[in-house]
Amino acid sequence: MEFSMAPMEGITNHLYRNCFGECYGGISRYYSPFIAVNAGANMKIRDLKDVLPENNRAPVIPQILVNNSDDCIKACKNLQGHGFTEVNINMGCPSPTVTVKGRGAAMLADLQILHLFLSRVFEGLGDTNLKLSVKSRIGIEDPAEFDGILATMADFPLKEWILHPRVLKEGYAGTPHLEIFCKKELSKCKFPIAYNGNIYQLSDYVKADELIDFKGNCVSHVMLGRGLLIRPYLAENLAKWDSENCKMQESQSKLSQNHEKTRIRSFYEMLLEAYKKEFTSESAILSHLKELSFWWVKGFTNGEAYLKEMRKAKRLIELDNVFKRLLVNEEVIIDDGHFEII
Ligand SMILES: Cc1cc2nc3c(=O)[nH]c(=O)nc-3n(C[C@H](O)[C@H](O)[C@H](O)COP(=O)(O)O)c2cc1C
Repeated sequence: MEFSMAPMEGITNHLYRNCFGECYGGISRYYSPFIAVNAGANMKIRDLKDVLPENNRAPVIPQILVNNSDDCIKACKNLQGHGFTEVNINMGCPSPTVTVKGRGAAMLADLQILHLFLSRVFEGLGDTNLKLSVKSRIGIEDPAEFDGILATMADFPLKEWILHPRVLKEGYAGTPHLEIFCKKELSKCKFPIAYNGNIYQLSDYVKADELIDFKGNCVSHVMLGRGLLIRPYLAENLAKWDSENCKMQESQSKLSQNHEKTRIRSFYEMLLEAYKKEFTSESAILSHLKELSFWWVKGFTNGEAYLKEMRKAKRLIELDNVFKRLLVNEEVIIDDGHFEII
């Protein structure tokens, strides 16, 4: 199975992606956090800089947030001019600041408008060989809306459809509706379908595979989000899973406490250096590292107990001291496939 890193705005910027790639493996492609395309197809220079090949050590697929077809076409052509061969359209963001403008997941509300948008965009890009993929949810309020969305998407030559099986109103809470991946109509789509949602550890992956049957239902790849923030070694570990024989490949070395602690420390130090080069103010660096700490502590025994102190840190040295204590006193919650398969 192929794994990608999910776009996570405010976190998985090029500095994060580059440092991640130096310290961890298993990810074959990275999706950028959304680039908002404003009237006249304007994109912020900072957002463009984040995806440009010269600032990225691994392949990145830029994701755009746009619901105006003319702006979408112009932005896609602009990105193609920078060397990109694929652009991903965000139809999944549930944030009210985004959906109030009819963007992100709100694009799934009116399927006639969505059809018109996609028709115009594909027509407008007809003279290019740029590929378009979509990352979306399965509806606004009710998973039953998915059939209409599926019928709409099926009319277009998408490069890939990445599905996060929740409706807008669910945000990121609750259990994803895995059952929609078993719909017969999905296998009739002419384009590949990727899975995204709630894979925090190997057992989640195995359960999702059992329910969905990734291979049988032609899931092209699995996109990892929050799970990869908490356990940066997640994709590496999932790749060791032998789904035919339901066990970890024996030839692969097992995870060790020391190794994982050393790696997360190196990752932290590498990020710190990268942020120091990027930002002049200590508070900007602190706020980025604090955001990451929020996720990292979840991968340690008793980790949440350190969070309050991390949040209160006013200097980098204070945050560093708490992080060092966490590494000395706590254990990485190793996810190595020793679990009951239900
Ligand atoms: C902090 C944060 C920022 C996110 N930013 C984006 C984004 O820019 N574009 C997008 O398509 N999804 C975004 N998402 C959604 C994730 O890409 C992913 O779909 C979601 O977290 C579910 O996957 P997971 O359960 O593996 O985390 C974001 C999620 C989080 C938690």
